[in-house]
Amino acid sequence: MSLFEHKEFDQHEQVVFCHDKQTGLKAIIAIHDTTMGPALGGTRLWNYPSSAEALTDVLRLSRGMTYKSALAGLPLGGGKAVIIGDAKSIKSAELFRAYGRFVNSLSGRYITAEDVNIRTSDIAIIAEETTFVAGTAEKAGDPSPHTALGTYLGLKAAVKHAFGQDNLSGIRIAVQGLGAVGYDFAEYCHRDGAQLFVTDINPAACQRAAEELNASVVGLDEIYALDVDVYAPCALGATVNDDTLKLLKAKIIAGSANNQLATPAHDQMVMDMGVLYAPDYVINAGGVIHVCSEAANMSRTETDQKVRDIYTTLTTIFSRSKSESRPTGQIADELAREVIANKKAQRSS
Ligand SMILES: NC(=O)c1ccc[n+]([C@@H]2O[C@H](COP(=O)([O-])OP(=O)(O)OC[C@H]3O[C@@H](n4cnc5c(N)ncnc54)[C@H](O)[C@@H]3O)[C@@H](O)[C@H]2O)c1
Repeated sequence: MSLFEHKEFDQHEQVVFCHDKQTGLKAIIAIHDTTMGPALGGTRLWNYPSSAEALTDVLRLSRGMTYKSALAGLPLGGGKAVIIGDAKSIKSAELFRAYGRFVNSLSGRYITAEDVNIRTSDIAIIAEETTFVAGTAEKAGDPSPHTALGTYLGLKAAVKHAFGQDNLSGIRIAVQGLGAVGYDFAEYCHRDGAQLFVTDINPAACQRAAEELNASVVGLDEIYALDVDVYAPCALGATVNDDTLKLLKAKIIAGSANNQLATPAHDQMVMDMGVLYAPDYVINAGGVIHVCSEAANMSRTETDQKVRDIYTTLTTIFSRSKSESRPTGQIADELAREVIANKKAQRSS
């Protein structure tokens, strides 16, 4: 498997392949960039069909974390880790401890936290072997509620830009995924007057949303073609692709999922369709901002303000995209790279 020639390799500083024979742990930790500070990013547990796909994912996700933290104004770099395996069968205390020892071996260059299929209780076990964790129950806690709040505020910025409306009254939103982030996000939207259409592979989550949030439940594939104002991907990546764009009627794409665009080319395609895309790593930064209270000793007042700043950052991106006729994802990447370049220039002056 080639690394330096890999299509997702983007001058990553360090990629660590972790294997523990006794527990069956197979993990990859990718440190993309530490210019702004130690590389922080969650650990994802996923049953990747191959280790090549796990590598692709971790390279992309870690770069996204660099840009996410830079644009959120955090003293953190970007990293991410993946553990390969089925969450239903692979989890054990021994496996998480073995993983914790690998994280510890990086001496703080990488700080881990929750991501898909990794809960606060799993982080607690990892923390038995390393202090380089964030999002522990005793300190910052689960970042998901803060990600949900930031995503809701980001959606409000998109609605203001696209429709000139200050609240979500009457806005029809298709929410894909009602997990830790998606459900809270849907609840914020419901309270603000939105009309919800929801889907999830977990029928219980859908039923709860129907009962508590007056949501209409739709099928897994139906979610894309609905006659709605907003498509909110809060489950999987790469759902904005050639197939789904043919179906999409929504004028806004704004949700918490990482890597929403299947390829960078979809950024331009979405703009050409007249759809406003809230770049994923900007709108879903609430969680990483929150764990900064633990990872970088930032005060809660400061982190709460930075979550609210997601609205302003997105408004800037939308305005620049409109005035320069360039896609929002491209503008966000450029702004993030500017932040990192400025820091490098400061260091060398
Ligand atoms: N948790 C955070 O703080 C955070 C921060 C930034 C980004 N994100 C991203 O947000 C997304 C959701 O994260 P989460 O923490 O809520 O994860 P989660 O595992 O709690 O929730 C995901 C939900 O999506 C559902 N789902 C899975 N496949 C689906 C499908 N095909 N169609 C519809 N629903 C499906 C699951 O049943 C689950 O309810 C992920 O992409 C994650 O990377 C999360």
